[in-house]
Amino acid sequence: MGLGVAECFAAAGMRVVLADATPELTRQAKDRLVRRARGHAEAGLLSDEAAGRVVAVETADDVAAAVDGVELVFEAVPEDIGLKEETLGSCSESARDAVIVSNTSSLPINDLSGFVDGPGRFCGMHWFNPPEWTPGVEVIPAAATEEEVVGRLVEFLRSIGKRPAVVGDGPGFVANRIQNALFLEAVRCVEEGLASPQEVDEVVRSCFGFRLPFFGPFQVADMAGLDVYENVLDVLKGGLGERFEAPDALRDLVEKGRTGTKSGAGFLQYTDEEREQLLLERDRRYAALNELLKDLPPVDAGSAP
Ligand SMILES: NC(=O)c1ccc[n+]([C@@H]2O[C@H](COP(=O)([O-])OP(=O)(O)OC[C@H]3O[C@@H](n4cnc5c(N)ncnc54)[C@H](O)[C@@H]3O)[C@@H](O)[C@H]2O)c1
Repeated sequence: MGLGVAECFAAAGMRVVLADATPELTRQAKDRLVRRARGHAEAGLLSDEAAGRVVAVETADDVAAAVDGVELVFEAVPEDIGLKEETLGSCSESARDAVIVSNTSSLPINDLSGFVDGPGRFCGMHWFNPPEWTPGVEVIPAAATEEEVVGRLVEFLRSIGKRPAVVGDGPGFVANRIQNALFLEAVRCVEEGLASPQEVDEVVRSCFGFRLPFFGPFQVADMAGLDVYENVLDVLKGGLGERFEAPDALRDLVEKGRTGTKSGAGFLQYTDEEREQLLLERDRRYAALNELLKDLPPVDAGSAP
């Protein structure tokens, strides 16, 4: 992850200094980064100019030297709380004025903020693989994080073409919580013999997953109709149990007649004009995605064992 993020920062024109656990590992990391950037340039995914900036990424013998005088420290050591404590402690001693972020996927941000001298300048910044191409980044403030720091991080990420979302410090934050809920049901479908892994993958990517590059679950539900969702959830609960109980937030909206775009409001609110625009834009985007998928080579890797 560290290398992918370094590539993003450098390609966007930032001065970047890399440090791994030892000088030898740092040298190897730099070699990998250069190979990766050249590969991306050869594949036409990165301009020669941007690749040149990645090749110019600097290295330092240790973390303390790397962060000396920088504005932003991006920590991406393995997911081990002891190692995070050691690394964040050393960064905060050497980079007294820097904002410090951790790419942790699962460790509580509040706990990590306790390892930083001056926790107001610390924040979670959770990227997704592959970081060069995945636009979304979760920004997770700790209780102590200064609001102004959160604002600067959001602006910074937008300025390099990312799509940040500020989320709370709960288990798995938002993305891993939702992604794992989906994964658990996918595995259960296979375990119960409903479909093979390949069939589940096809259903997810080609049915409802097809919409997800454009709309999140709330807009999708608003367009489908919240009353429809409530009815479906009641059937699912009957067959699969309490975990499919329709949440109060959904039942309340349906009771108030806020059933989604068709009634002008669901989880979100829509004027007549906005609704027409949304549905037209939805159709345009779905058609464009179908065209793109036709033009791209198929990814048929993986078969039944
Ligand atoms: N792999 C993913 O898809 C993914 C996605 C999002 C977030 N993350 C998070 O990013 C962080 C890194 O994950 P990863 O998958 O890139 O791990 P990784 O093991 O691939 O890379 C970690 C790097 O840290 C280096 N390192 C170890 N000790 C160090 C030290 N003391 N000082 C400096 N460098 C040190 C390792 O040599 C290695 O190069 C974790 O917190 C992880 O949860 C990972």
